[in-house]
Amino acid sequence: MNLFAGLEEIVKFDEPLAPYNWFKLGGPARYFVTPRNLDQLKQVIERCNENHVDVKILGRGSNLLVGDEGVDGVVIRMTDKYFGQISIEGNTVCAGAGASINRLLQVCARAGLSGMECLVGIPGSVGGAVKINAGGRFGDIGSFSHSVSLMDSSGYQFVRPREDIYFGYRETNIMAKLILSAEFTLTPDDPEAIGRTIKEVWMLKKISQPMSSRNAGCVFKNPRALSAGALIDQAGLKGLRLGGAQVSERHANFIVVSDGATASDVLKLIDQIRQQVQRRFDVELELELEIWR
Ligand code: EPU
Repeated sequence: MNLFAGLEEIVKFDEPLAPYNWFKLGGPARYFVTPRNLDQLKQVIERCNENHVDVKILGRGSNLLVGDEGVDGVVIRMTDKYFGQISIEGNTVCAGAGASINRLLQVCARAGLSGMECLVGIPGSVGGAVKINAGGRFGDIGSFSHSVSLMDSSGYQFVRPREDIYFGYRETNIMAKLILSAEFTLTPDDPEAIGRTIKEVWMLKKISQPMSSRNAGCVFKNPRALSAGALIDQAGLKGLRLGGAQVSERHANFIVVSDGATASDVLKLIDQIRQQVQRRFDVELELELEIWR
């Protein structure tokens, strides 16, 4: 059986996934598909569904660890320009799931639309950010989301209005297989003022986070009313190294990796951190990082 007959131009076999994630780690995907339009995407989803093939959706790989064995199924990459379109009508911005948060921020700032500044420094895609309600100290993407366009695992497309979506801390109730796009309602403001805020937030992050090293953002969610970074730091784990993976000296909730690191090094370090924080503070750290293995 040829699962993707007729779609060969968008399918690669045994494609290494390391170049597609921020850790630059992990094995290959058995099938790696980059649809160029909605029709191709729908066909791929339908065929996988009919043939009971596991599908994973790849955004910009910024909150992702791919295991060394890779993925024995289909990885759909949503970053073709078709899925990254951004349009503005009044105070409403519609962004494709594959658009980068960084570009979205710039487009909104230039158009004098404020709100997205809280997402400065988040290197992900719109789809990934909406799915986990990405954000930080200054707010999260859910707070100005107006509606989200989705596709389920049978290829059916539908739209969920804001009222139907629960945006919690680094989680949502979006269960659909795919996020296609999202609409955001923003507030008009002076583009220069927005630009200044972006610079300020960027500086704050640069001081406190290891922006220039290979990492995948915060590894753990903050436990209720606590800071995962502070707990890991107080447990004395800053700088702890296992193979090529190390707890960042700058921010303890980041794992940074060096040449020669494997995904297995990162996984072992995650286990160590969890065990030690549990033993020391009786707190069970929950992963924010998505792991494919
Ligand atoms: N802290 C330490 N040691 C450390 C790190 C932090 O003592 O090694 C202390 C800080 O001094 C501060 C507190 O912990 O008092 C909180 O730290 P920070 O302000 O850096 O914020 P955070 O809660 O660790 C959150 C998000 C980040 C986001 C920042 C800034 C989570 C898990 N993390 O970090 O998001 O960039 O706020 O808005 O919610 C991400 O989600 O990947 C991410 C990086």
